[in-house]
Amino acid sequence: MEQLALFILRISLMAIPLYVCNGLALVFGGRKHIDFGRKFFDGKPILGEGKTFKGTFAGIFFAGIASLAISTAFPQATEIMGTNYMFYGTVLGIGAVLGDFAGSFAKRRLGIERGKSVLWLDQLDFVAGGLALGLIIAMPTPLEALFLLAFTMIAHVLGNTIAFSARMKKVPW
Ligand code: CTP
Ligand code: MG
Repeated sequence: MEQLALFILRISLMAIPLYVCNGLALVFGGRKHIDFGRKFFDGKPILGEGKTFKGTFAGIFFAGIASLAISTAFPQATEIMGTNYMFYGTVLGIGAVLGDFAGSFAKRRLGIERGKSVLWLDQLDFVAGGLALGLIIAMPTPLEALFLLAFTMIAHVLGNTIAFSARMKKVPW
């Protein structure tokens, strides 16, 4: 039982900065494109219009704020990450943004337009990027990493289904 509680606690401590970063990048998405509208050698956008300065820095900033707030409110709980949690949360945010950039970079190389969805990549690039960069500070167990990826996928599908049923979205994906 205690094992399970610890597992859920660690998962949540990793998930929150990642989700905050991704969500708030969307909310704060601005106009200045982080690739300055430039094209890559293939003549296609480097990252495209979905990656802006405001969104990027808001995502990282709020990942840092969220982890600062959590480590202030629950210092004992965050100790279980075995590191300075505010620092870890910020690095998760930076990694999430970089993973998201990598996803967009790959999509543009494949000629997929900005905003066109690619199942698995769109939902998981930021989680994979965050956890990967986070390795410089803390290491999730393979089970924790897998669980986070699977949970994110399921949450995405559920969220979209609900938004579709509530007529907030036109398509259920
Ligand atoms: N966003 C941003 N800056 C980022 C990430 C996201 O401004 N670093 C904002 C953009 O307004 C973007 C929205 O959040 O359109 C959704 O993000 P995402 O789904 O990652 O971008 P897409 O528009 O789908 O573009 P892509 O095809 O490159 O994934
Ligand atoms: Mg998208």
